Amino acid sequence: MDSLTTAFRSGQKPAFPAEAGTLEYAQSLDQQDKLRHLRKEFIIPTRSSLKKKALNGVIPGERDDEKENSIYFVGNSLGAQPKAVRRALESQLETWASIGVNGHFTTFENSPLSSWQDLAESCARQSVDLVGAAVPEEIIYMNTLTANLHLMMATFYKPTAERHKVITEWKPFPSDWYAVQSQIRHHGFDPSTSLIEIQPSSDIYLSTESILAAITEHASSTALVLLPGIQYYTGQLLDIKTITAHAHSLGIPCVGWDLAHAAGNVPLHLHDWNVDFAVWCTYKYINAGPGSTAGLFLHQKHHDKNLNRLEGWYGADKSVRFLMEKEFKPSSGASGWQLSNPSAIDLASVGAALGVFESVGDKYMESLRDKAVVLTGYLEHLLEGLIREEVGKKGSQNAFRIITPGNPLERGTQLSLMLREGILDSVSEVLAEEGVVCDARKPDVIRVAPVPLYCRFEDVWKFVEIFRGALARA
Ligand SMILES: Cc1ncc(COP(=O)(O)O)c(C=O)c1O
Repeated sequence: MDSLTTAFRSGQKPAFPAEAGTLEYAQSLDQQDKLRHLRKEFIIPTRSSLKKKALNGVIPGERDDEKENSIYFVGNSLGAQPKAVRRALESQLETWASIGVNGHFTTFENSPLSSWQDLAESCARQSVDLVGAAVPEEIIYMNTLTANLHLMMATFYKPTAERHKVITEWKPFPSDWYAVQSQIRHHGFDPSTSLIEIQPSSDIYLSTESILAAITEHASSTALVLLPGIQYYTGQLLDIKTITAHAHSLGIPCVGWDLAHAAGNVPLHLHDWNVDFAVWCTYKYINAGPGSTAGLFLHQKHHDKNLNRLEGWYGADKSVRFLMEKEFKPSSGASGWQLSNPSAIDLASVGAALGVFESVGDKYMESLRDKAVVLTGYLEHLLEGLIREEVGKKGSQNAFRIITPGNPLERGTQLSLMLREGILDSVSEVLAEEGVVCDARKPDVIRVAPVPLYCRFEDVWKFVEIFRGALARA
């Protein structure tokens, strides 16, 4: 497996052996997987738990019967539950029950968590490697992704008659689109002239050249570039470093990134890449649970600038937070953008979920990436086999095509499959019947994300066999 990792990580597509299409080969990759023990740290829904109609106190997967487990390929939407999250929530409930309000400042010596006042900063300390921060003060956990995006735009988007545009891409996640449009209108500008959509260079691929060209074209009138680290629909990973440097070199004052699909999925170096700000959610690849508290990165270069911000009492420095003074004295770094007393329950989930990443060891994102490139490359290899075998082909039309870039350096774990028109419902039905959990985007796309923390090569092999059957039936 090491040679596969090396090849994929240098952007090549290695040849898989002839027996790659067998279950035994998939299992042999699992045997070589140095991270395979991590699967036990997660609760994977089972085929029967997925059909559950009422709560019954039974936690799926406790019987340790792998045959029962679903194929959970939906880390790009809601990651599987780490067992540590349940333990952290139980500790938190016990803390609250035992010492009540004192939990804000006190913690038990054997608790996995810090006191409620310190939880957000403690999660930041855990995330330095996750996003490539120089110091934990560049990170804070608070609110949700869209709320944090608004807070960052409130600070950085200061449109003037000369410089008022926001550059984004043609198919942003709708929430980003709504947030940007409403910010533009909020400042009295018109999205039809102030919002620039970078169009794909071919089909649905956004080449770095076309992104740089669009930025060059609008540079003198642009106030903000806001792009996704990984495009949610196609799974394309953008060249954050090159794009950020290019925009800055042309005098654009702020480059921000939506890392919903990148954080916990690919290694990031936000500080070194000179990213102004980034926002991400924690329910996808970070596995902190539905709607869990989001992350924010604010580059150190902005920390001492006394930037304008929307203020709230939790942004005040801890030394004065409870003095109840009218003057706002921000805590330094990203934490000065906090508004409210955060949910200690939510942050306990985030801290516990991040703890699973830390358990991988130093440079945990690099280790996870080493496995992820092979997992996704193997999936691609087997899917290309189905295309070559013409499974489900109708006339001249293949049953599906992969719309995620073939270059391993231009994607994370997700592959997006565009199905032939009209077969999405039927394919999704078979996948669900067979215990595959993945994500359908109407009208024709399914997104499949085998994540390295808890997915196996065997799951990839099984998924492709089930998909084969689904296509044949459709
Ligand atoms: C790319 C992207 N941006 C933004 C969001 C919105 O996140 P939130 O609901 O936390 O604001 C999502 C949610 O899935 C997303 O995928």
